[in-house]
Amino acid sequence: MAAPAHSTGTDAGRHAIGGEDLLRWRRQQLSRGGQPSGLDWLLDLEAGVDWQQLQQLRLHPEATLLLNVPLEQLESLWRRHCHGQEPLQYLVGQCPWRDLTLQVAPGVLIPRQETELLVDLALAIWGTAGSSDGPHRWADLGTGSGCLALALAQAWPGGQGMAVDRSAEALCQAGANLRAQGLEGRVQLLEGEWWKPLQPHWGALDLVVSNPPYIPRLVWQQLDPVVRDHEPELALVGGEDGLEALRAITAGAAEALAPGGWLLLEHHHDQSTAVLELLRAGGLVEVTPHPDLEGQWRFASARRAPERP
Ligand SMILES: C[S@@+](CC[C@H](N)C(=O)[O-])C[C@H]1O[C@@H](n2cnc3c(N)ncnc32)[C@H](O)[C@@H]1O
Repeated sequence: MAAPAHSTGTDAGRHAIGGEDLLRWRRQQLSRGGQPSGLDWLLDLEAGVDWQQLQQLRLHPEATLLLNVPLEQLESLWRRHCHGQEPLQYLVGQCPWRDLTLQVAPGVLIPRQETELLVDLALAIWGTAGSSDGPHRWADLGTGSGCLALALAQAWPGGQGMAVDRSAEALCQAGANLRAQGLEGRVQLLEGEWWKPLQPHWGALDLVVSNPPYIPRLVWQQLDPVVRDHEPELALVGGEDGLEALRAITAGAAEALAPGGWLLLEHHHDQSTAVLELLRAGGLVEVTPHPDLEGQWRFASARRAPERP
């Protein structure tokens, strides 16, 4: 096997490496395990070498690249990912999501790509980003990293946002992400159980979004260790049947929403029928399922009946 590649020098804090060496290093790392897409993601986010540059290297391996970090540092992160099953997003401390780059750390769920659709659904219901007709008061239940709250705060600068979580660690992370985007003035962070911290606003919430924990405990026990052993159980497990949080949220919605106000939920791929029933049983109307990009029913919307004139 070829000798391990090392970055050869620095250029204003960056680390020069020949293309051939980098490609050889990449092959060596993949022989330890892990997915090529994961390693390329690490090269992009941590070293600043994007996918297009990697493709170019295959055509011009004689080229020299500048890495943002020494190759040894990348190698140590990749080992931790392959051997300790640590999520790459925690290792690099960030996660791209919609047009945002969010800070993430152990103790807080890594935002998933499919959750971006909840924002699209909110925008479809309330009108496009920047519209002055956006919701006056909105809330994100179980905010985690704050991904949904940040996207809504960006979309409707005039609205009053509230982000709730039971985890102080999550709220701290959401606060850091809001500050990093200059959005901290638009969203109040509230610690507590689902609707409870919002009590002063009950009956006045125009829009509530939530991606609650919805994985049944037995399913969670069988998840990939990269998720099960590293991401917070509180963020993933929705009790024995996965519906515990969804029950609490749907049960309180009619009282907390403003007349005509909307609730938008994410749920597990096999929970659509149960969630639609919970929404109806909670007294909401216009109960509608929504698919993800693969056509699976992963979202639901419903509203409190508008007041009659
Ligand atoms: C699936 S994560 C979603 C995080 C984030 N909204 C996202 O989409 O990436 C669920 C969140 O709900 C929070 N949570 C769990 N139980 C809660 C409860 N009883 N009350 C409020 N938040 C809770 C967890 O701490 C976690 O941050």
